[in-house]
This record gives sequence, C-alpha cells and structure tokens, in this order.
Amino acid sequence: MNSRLKYVLKYFKYYLFAKHKKGHGIHSPFIFNLILNVFRNKKKDEEIISVFDVYNSYRINNKVLKFKEIGAGTTYNKSKNISIGEIIKRSSVNKKYCKLIYDLVKYFNSINIIEIGSSVGISAAYIAQAAPKANFTSIEGIEEKIKIAKQIATELKLSTEFIQGNFNSILNSVLDKYENLDLVFFDGNHKRKNTLEYFNLCLKKIHNETVFVFDDIHWSEEMEEAWNEIKNHSKVRVSVDLFRMGLIFFKKELSYENYVIKF
Ligand SMILES: C[S@@+](CC[C@H](N)C(=O)[O-])C[C@H]1O[C@@H](n2cnc3c(N)ncnc32)[C@H](O)[C@@H]1O
Repeated sequence: MNSRLKYVLKYFKYYLFAKHKKGHGIHSPFIFNLILNVFRNKKKDEEIISVFDVYNSYRINNKVLKFKEIGAGTTYNKSKNISIGEIIKRSSVNKKYCKLIYDLVKYFNSINIIEIGSSVGISAAYIAQAAPKANFTSIEGIEEKIKIAKQIATELKLSTEFIQGNFNSILNSVLDKYENLDLVFFDGNHKRKNTLEYFNLCLKKIHNETVFVFDDIHWSEEMEEAWNEIKNHSKVRVSVDLFRMGLIFFKKELSYENYVIKF
C-alpha cells in the first residue's frame, strides 16, 4: 500500500474513533477546558488577522529560492529551485493548525519558546504574534529560508530570534540559553531517531506546565513510531492526538492518559 493511501486510511480511523470535539466523555477538567477554550475557539483577534494577511500574500509569492533540502522525505545534496509560495503550500503549517498553535501559546501564556524547523517563518509568525514579549527562538538549517522568515517577522514587527544551523549540532546550545521551556514546537527532520533525540534533549528543560507540540505525528511510519514512544515516555502524563498534531503535557497532577480528539 502506498504511503498516501495509508495516511488517508489513518485519517478515516481517526475520524471514526476520535473523541468528540465538544468534549463529551472527557472527565479531565484540564482537557475539557483545553477543548472548550482552545480547540473550539473560533475567535480571531486583530493580531491573528494581521498574520493571516501576511500568510495570504506570501502563499502566492513567486520569488524562487535556490537551496539544498535537508530533513526527512528529501533528496540530499540536490539543489532545488522553488518559489516561496510553493514552500508554504508544501511544508508550512496550514491556517487551521497555525491558529491552534497561536491559541495554545496565548492560553498557556508561554514565554520561553523554541521552534525546531522555521522554514520561511509561517508558524513562527503566529507563535511570536501570540506572545510578543516571549523569549522565542526558531531554528532552521537553510539560510535562504531564514532570510524570508526574518523578512516576515520584520513586516509584522516581531522580535523572533532565528538561528541557522543543523538541529543535530545547534539544539544543545540553543537549549543552554534557557533555564526552562514553556513550549516547544517540533516541526523539522521527521525521522524517528532525530525526533526522539530532539525530544530527549528538550526534556532536560521541562517544568510541570511545559507543553510540547509535534507536527505530522502520523505522516510516516517513522513519525508514528516516534509519537508512540514519546506519548508512552515515563515523564509524559497526557498526550492529545489531533491527527495532524500531537500535544504532550507533563503535569504531575494529571493521571496518565492518551487522548485522541476530533479537531
Ligand atoms: C516542515 S518545515 C517547517 C515548517 C514551519 N514550521 C512552518 O510552518 O512554516 C521543516 C523545516 O526543517 C528544516 N530542517 C529539516 N531537518 C533539519 C535539520 N537537521 N537541521 C536544520 N533544519 C532542518 C527544513 O529545512 C525545513 O525548512
């Protein structure tokens, strides 16, 4: 079976068996409130609308970038010519899930934030707009993409720190700058081994309220395996599978539970 078909079947399974998005049958007040205030939040404030506008204009930007791709699902050392708009369509988080990240950052008042995988800075723009006073670092390996990410941040008057380098070599030094982390968005190098490595490194900086957000948890067998290991890690109390993204909570007062919730 090809991977696209497998993904569609996984989605059908999720759609049929996920818990209702209205929170029916959820006993945990923490998760119930998360559903009510974040997953079901339809409000769009002025700040998010300004990011939507920038997103819409870059999504049709024809400027071509030339670079060598890195990460899972790519052909190493092959130069690519691809427009900014196409990069966003193929690999950036879509509006629905960017709003989710925005709402999560606001709801949890996250201040110390890291994003692993900036690309051209779409999700980074939502994160920074949700927390303008945050100590937010976004990491990306490709210089040409970082330039656009910085341009978008400047347009929105955001003060995100973008750092260029391979996650495998720079994540440790980025983590050293933080005493602890409130939120980490994992969105790059979707290989099992690397995803688990980044997860384990970031674990050193968690506190009781830290939130980890993983993109593309069902995107491949490797990501599926990584997600299963992560949600069953002894330090993890609660996981929430929203199909495209997975959320991880460490709050010691919560009982161990893996939720699958329709989003
Ligand atoms: C899915 S994209 C990120 C999308 C971005 N979060 C957004 O929504 O706009 C993943 C990014 O991770 C970068 N990447 C993958 N593996 C990497 C590595 N080992 N070191 C540095 N960057 C890497 C890729 O260049 C790519 O731009």
